[in-house]
Amino acid sequence: MEGLPLTPTLDGMTTARTYEVRTYGCQMNVHDSERISGLLDGAGYVPVQPDSTPDVVVFNTCAVRENADNRLYGNLGHLKPVKDRTPGMQIAVGGCLAQKDQGLITTKAPWVDVVFGTHNVGALPVLLERARVEQQSQVELLEALEVFPSTLPARRESSYSAWVSISVGCDNTCTFCIVPALRGKEQDRRPGDVLREVEMLVAQGVLEVTLLGQNVNSYGRSFGDRDAFGKLLRAVGQTGLERIRFTSPHPRDFTDDVIEAMAQTPAVCPSLHMPLQSGSDAVLKAMRRSYRSERFLGILDRVRAAIPDAAITTDIIVGFPTETEADFAETLRVVEASRFAGAFTFQYSPRPGTPAADLPPLAKDVVQERYERLVVLQERMTYDGMLAQVGRAAEVLVSQGEGRKDGPNTMTGRARDNRLVHLPRVDGVRPGDVVETVVTGAAPHYLRAEGPLLSHRRTLAGDAAEAGRTPTTPGVSLGMPTVGVPMQAPAEVPACR
Ligand code: SF4
Ligand code: F3S
Repeated sequence: MEGLPLTPTLDGMTTARTYEVRTYGCQMNVHDSERISGLLDGAGYVPVQPDSTPDVVVFNTCAVRENADNRLYGNLGHLKPVKDRTPGMQIAVGGCLAQKDQGLITTKAPWVDVVFGTHNVGALPVLLERARVEQQSQVELLEALEVFPSTLPARRESSYSAWVSISVGCDNTCTFCIVPALRGKEQDRRPGDVLREVEMLVAQGVLEVTLLGQNVNSYGRSFGDRDAFGKLLRAVGQTGLERIRFTSPHPRDFTDDVIEAMAQTPAVCPSLHMPLQSGSDAVLKAMRRSYRSERFLGILDRVRAAIPDAAITTDIIVGFPTETEADFAETLRVVEASRFAGAFTFQYSPRPGTPAADLPPLAKDVVQERYERLVVLQERMTYDGMLAQVGRAAEVLVSQGEGRKDGPNTMTGRARDNRLVHLPRVDGVRPGDVVETVVTGAAPHYLRAEGPLLSHRRTLAGDAAEAGRTPTTPGVSLGMPTVGVPMQAPAEVPACR
């Protein structure tokens, strides 16, 4: 046990130090947290048991939400008395807000032991150890990525569904967005590395993979292949995966070869998250998003022509500083024409350091009133989309910890188009298993399938979930995967804002 992080106990013995990772923000952060857990496991820490106080708390932060910093400092304040009465406890802050606030974090909260950024996740175990030995806070942030994060080990959250990064960073300059400043320039991962990671996950029973990048459609530019994303979809479709998803695409770079690859690869799910942000061409221009509404609608038409039942979701920002009532009317028009299955809707709020933050904001009540109108419209469209499913057969991947209605009588899963489905619990059906059923009812945000199952397929993922195992992936070239532990909260915001 020499060299492992240990905590002395009252009887003079030592136990492995425990950790908890608290995740905020998008899927990127959720996946980075899987890597943080994998790294800490590798360094000899163990996940804390529920209702126990961990020896190490890691905050993996997001900078997108308004007041994200107030929330972080509030949380750190709550933890201070716990740390004061827990000898040896350490607090680490990483992620996008750490990359943004840097040394400010230990100035405002000097009881924080480690601050690390988005480019040096791999340094966390060393920084924790150094802080413990030197009894001094360690702040280490890099301006650029040194190691592609997927070369780090990961402890996955789910037995059946996994994230796989294909790129990190973003070369776009949307004027409202802080992400490029915090995640850096786009770096693409080699297709062979992506495929190897997918294959390892498939071998451990994973049925569904979501390919992750801030702009998946620019994938390949760095190695000179503009068609690389479509090719990657086809190649991932050959690995034995049952469900392939990806996020986020960008309307500017979304080409017809990707639509073809989606339609011709049976494992690619009939769902697409396509960020609109605004329906007004003038606002899109001011946002420096270089597509226009007609191009956006044209993409949706071509996707629906190739994949008729595709459920398309989006992100929309209301109240960008230059948005007029006429611009907003354009957003309503495009939303109505797009028939989105769902939308993340946001009221614009400035991010210091972005170009749009220097523009005079709109009045709050104007933004609120427009936002409410948009939500009413989108809720109607979401519900219409749900109602259209009633009577249809659905293949459902049973999930774990996802349904608020889950209980002794109800289980939950996702249809191939990513709609949430609640079903009566059936003995022997485990999370990770696949069932076929018929949709019998719709609510604004979920479907019901109350009849008997048409079929039930036991899967390797279901076996793993039943045994409490989730896959782990080592750093891509470091030996064979082993098995690991539990599930975490879902992402709060989409990958591309
Ligand atoms: Fe990049 Fe998306 Fe941010 Fe635009 S909104 S800069 S595409 S991450
Ligand atoms: Fe970072 Fe994702 Fe938030 S990239 S700023 S954690 S939305």
